[in-house]
Order: sequence, then C-alpha cells, then structure tokens
Amino acid sequence: MPAVLFRSDNDSSDEWRAALTKRIPDLDFRVWPEVGDPSDIEFALVWKVPAGAFDGLPNLKAVCSLGQGVDHLFADPDFPKTPHILRIVDPWMGRAMAEWVLLQVLRFHRQGPEYEQFQRERRWIKLPAPETATRRVGILGLGALGTEAATTIAALGFDVAGWSRTAKGIANVTSYAGPDALDAFLARTDILCCMLPLTPETTDLINADLLAKLPKGAFVVNSGRGAQLVEDDLLAALDSGHIAGAALDVFRVEPLPGDHPFWVHPKVQVWPHVSAQTNAESGADQVAENIRRIFAGHPPFNTVDPDRKY
Ligand code: NAP
Ligand code: GLV
Repeated sequence: MPAVLFRSDNDSSDEWRAALTKRIPDLDFRVWPEVGDPSDIEFALVWKVPAGAFDGLPNLKAVCSLGQGVDHLFADPDFPKTPHILRIVDPWMGRAMAEWVLLQVLRFHRQGPEYEQFQRERRWIKLPAPETATRRVGILGLGALGTEAATTIAALGFDVAGWSRTAKGIANVTSYAGPDALDAFLARTDILCCMLPLTPETTDLINADLLAKLPKGAFVVNSGRGAQLVEDDLLAALDSGHIAGAALDVFRVEPLPGDHPFWVHPKVQVWPHVSAQTNAESGADQVAENIRRIFAGHPPFNTVDPDRKY
C-alpha cells in the first residue's frame, strides 16, 4: 500500500496516527523526517512545512492541510503544481469558530471592556443597556466558518451582514459581494469580524483606508489570518478613538513577539490562535476518506482551487 507522510509542529502525530489507523487499520503512516522510501509517499498531511519540503517525493498525489486554511501551502514558492491540494472542512471547527466570534461580539455589545475597567477601579457604574436588533455585525468571508458564525449571531437577533466574493442567500444575513460592495458593507458595520482566507487579494485588506470606512466606535475581530490586518494602522485607529476595541486571534508573526504593543494595549484582547483548533478525532473521517480515494485513484473532495488560493 502507498504511504502517508505527516509533518506538523502544531498537531500531534500520535493523535493523527491513532485516529487514521482506527479508520484504515493497515495504513502506512510515516512521520517526518522518517520518510523511508520517498517513492511510497502518495499523500502528505501537513501544517506549515518549510519551503522545498515536498522535493524528492516523486509519487506525491495530494497534499492536505491540517486545518481549514491553506495559505501556508501557497507560501512555499516550490509548492508542487501537480498534486491535489486538500483541506479540512470540519463542522466541529465551524462550531468552535462560531462560539469564539460570538464571545467577542457579545463582549463588545454588552460593554465588557468598560465594565472590566470599572471593576479594576472598584466603581459601581451602570451604562445604558445596548439594543441587539440595532447592533450591526459584519462578517468578512461567508465560507464554512463565516456562515456558521453569521447564522449563530443572527439567531440572537443581531443585524448581520456578510461580505464574500460571490453573493449568498443565507437566512437573516444580508449579502454583500465583491469589491464594489465593500464600502457599503463597512458603512453599516459596528462589529467587524474577519474569517477570510489569506490570498493576494485579502493580504493587508484591513488597513487604514478600510478602518476609516467603519463607523466611529466600531470594533474589529480577526480570526482569519494575521497578514490581513495592517497592525500599525489598527493601533493608530485605536489610539485616535475611531476604533473602540479589537479582539485578535491571529497575527502577522506567531507567536506574537513579547515586545509587541498589542500585548499591553488597553483596547486589544490577544488570543493565541485558538478560535478553531484542528481536532484529529473530528477531522479524521474526511481525511481517511480522501486517503482512500487518492490511493484508489479516485477524485478527492475538500479540494482547493490553486488559482483562487482558497
Ligand atoms: P472558505 O470556506 O474557503 O470561505 C472563504 C470565504 O471567504 C468565502 O465566502 C469566500 O467567498 C470569501 N473570500 C475569499 N476571498 C475573497 C475576496 N477576495 N473577497 C471577498 N470574499 C472573499 O474558508 P473557511 O473554511 O471559512 O476558512 C476561512 C479562513 O479562516 C481560513 O482560510 C483560515 O485562514 C481561517 N481560519 C482560522 C482559524 C483560527 O483558529 N483562527 C481556524 C480555521 C480557519 P466565496 O464564498 O464567494 O468564494
Ligand atoms: C487554522 O488556523 C486553520 O486554518 O485551520
């Protein structure tokens, strides 16, 4: 039987070996750097491999990201052109992301940062009660994750819209599509939540220009990718008061360097890229099925378009 090569410094090879061999008992599962005969490897299961990591695997047919995002694969200038590029699309991760985004939306909506400050000052102060139906939440990216987050937030009665490349028909979520609709989407967004994939089009998207198009006092939540946000532009917008607060799960450099101003900024909450973590047990059914298909020469699913890069 052909072999699977696993390489990640973020995911447990023991957990993935156990989850996959439970589903394919005779699976030949190899962990980098124990490649064995490189011509055996037909399927690679990877997270953030160094450039050139796929060199010397002559029979590689598919590379599967150990996550929903695939930007780390396209970051390799030598990434092989021929194999199928696959990703995990896991409803368990969708639920986790929806929970995390909802947590941020509710914290900002219910004046969490203000009450946290009042507590530090031992002050008993009541602010006016906020109105859910008029709080406008805007979701950048209405894919597997953004759709789950948008419907979860809409179910609580918020005024929810989403921005995507193509128009969507999601109940209780107003659809804005394409670059021409972005300004109108931003103008009606009080809490901006990003779940876009990182591509050339979305790199640096959340910059000074975009932030200025949000209403004064808006909040920014980013769980897409760090390179979508120009961090200095966000800091300037927070310091000017135009943006009232930010909750960030992803950063341009991860782990976030110890001297980064986000760590101590009073209007920023830092999370260590945990909003939707890959889960071997919930993701293994689909990965095992794709391994079976690739080994049998059948077309896989959860494929990524190499031109669109997501
Ligand atoms: P997805 O299903 O591929 O959805 C991507 C969405 O973004 C789609 O709605 C797509 O529009 C839209 N989009 C892409 N490029 C666009 C552009 N240039 N303009 C407007 N809309 C654009 O991806 P997903 O599974 O939801 O995951 C999204 C991202 O979340 C991942 O790529 C990853 O970066 C991030 N993520 C983060 C974590 C974490 O823990 N922080 C965990 C998992 C994933 P169309 O639908 O019209 O194509
Ligand atoms: C995590 O960031 C993922 O892309 O799954």
